[in-house]
Amino acid sequence: MKFWRISSFGVDKLEMAERPDPQPGPGEVLIAVKAVSLNYRDLMVVEGRYNPKMELPRIPCSDGAGEVLAIGEGVSSVKVGDRVAGIFMQNWIDGKPAAAKQKGALGGDVDGMLAEKVILHEPGVVKVPDHLTWEEASTLPCAGVTAWNAVVRTGQIRSCDTVVIQGTGGVSIFALQFARLAGARVIGTSSSEEKLAKAKDLGLDAGFNYRKNPEWAKWVMQETNGVGADLVVEVGGAGTFGQSLKAVRTGGTVAQIGVLSQTSEPVPIGPILMSQIRVQGIYVGSRADFEEMNAAIALHRLQPHIHEVFPFKNAPGAFQAMAGGSHFGKLVIAL
Ligand SMILES: NC(=O)c1ccc[n+]([C@@H]2O[C@H](COP(=O)([O-])OP(=O)(O)OC[C@H]3O[C@@H](n4cnc5c(N)ncnc54)[C@H](OP(=O)(O)O)[C@@H]3O)[C@@H](O)[C@H]2O)c1
Repeated sequence: MKFWRISSFGVDKLEMAERPDPQPGPGEVLIAVKAVSLNYRDLMVVEGRYNPKMELPRIPCSDGAGEVLAIGEGVSSVKVGDRVAGIFMQNWIDGKPAAAKQKGALGGDVDGMLAEKVILHEPGVVKVPDHLTWEEASTLPCAGVTAWNAVVRTGQIRSCDTVVIQGTGGVSIFALQFARLAGARVIGTSSSEEKLAKAKDLGLDAGFNYRKNPEWAKWVMQETNGVGADLVVEVGGAGTFGQSLKAVRTGGTVAQIGVLSQTSEPVPIGPILMSQIRVQGIYVGSRADFEEMNAAIALHRLQPHIHEVFPFKNAPGAFQAMAGGSHFGKLVIAL
């Protein structure tokens, strides 16, 4: 079977390799991968920015979906032919996060999904909703579960709430879709008017160009009659955190997810305590979160938004597209 690996860091150094098909041992599942989706994190991994000390070689990518080809002794929750995806952290099954549960992230701590066949242990796979294509199903494990965790588990968003999304990448578009499912008002920022228009087609109520004016918190205040948003889905990182604190209401939540921008400004502690803001770090979610999200996706026949699909042989092209940043929603590699 063929797979892509990182032997040294850099998108141009990704190499395709081949080895004999793996066989599942007791408690293991062999999956024929049909599609893999990219997260910004996968680009950071390949470029050596995520963990410069990562052991190499490593198969990249956390997110993939495929068909069960064979099961090892004792496997009972899936059978040959089932449509499944791997869970991001192979050891976080349910309950609160813990250091031990956070070990075993695919395409980081252990080999990932950018391979024709992969072996995962039984608790590390979930069935995916029937109505999704392989490409759509591949977008769920990281971007989907992270947005679900931010909006539903942490944010507990209701129809009377206002949610702010930042940009129009994978996590943000899922957050828009989940917040709309909950009936919330969703407003958001982007560097592009064209992307804001597309986001409005998916239910965004109002948009603001952060490139034209980086002081978008004032706009959020105007949009919320001076109250502030109930939840900011924070993917911008250090460079947007100050604006997020200004944009959230007293007692509101900043779901801290991303690391897309930097700043030399100090962390503004004052507003966090004076406005009693809850700043909650989000690191994807558990298998239980994934299954709960899948139930909602199936119930509402929600469809993840895919920007472009690349063939397996041009996987580096997908990473280059992610680095270029012109995508809206998800970039996918089909096998
Ligand atoms: N903590 C976790 O568990 C977790 C999970 C998934 C992702 N993440 C992190 O979340 C971030 C987003 O990941 P992703 O996979 O969704 O990335 P992505 O698909 O590449 O989306 C990135 C988008 O963010 C927007 N953006 C970039 N810089 C921005 C800024 N300064 N302010 C506002 N928006 C900005 C851009 O949207 P426009 O083109 O519309 O401007 C860009 O297209 C990354 O930092 C990633 O590492 C964390």
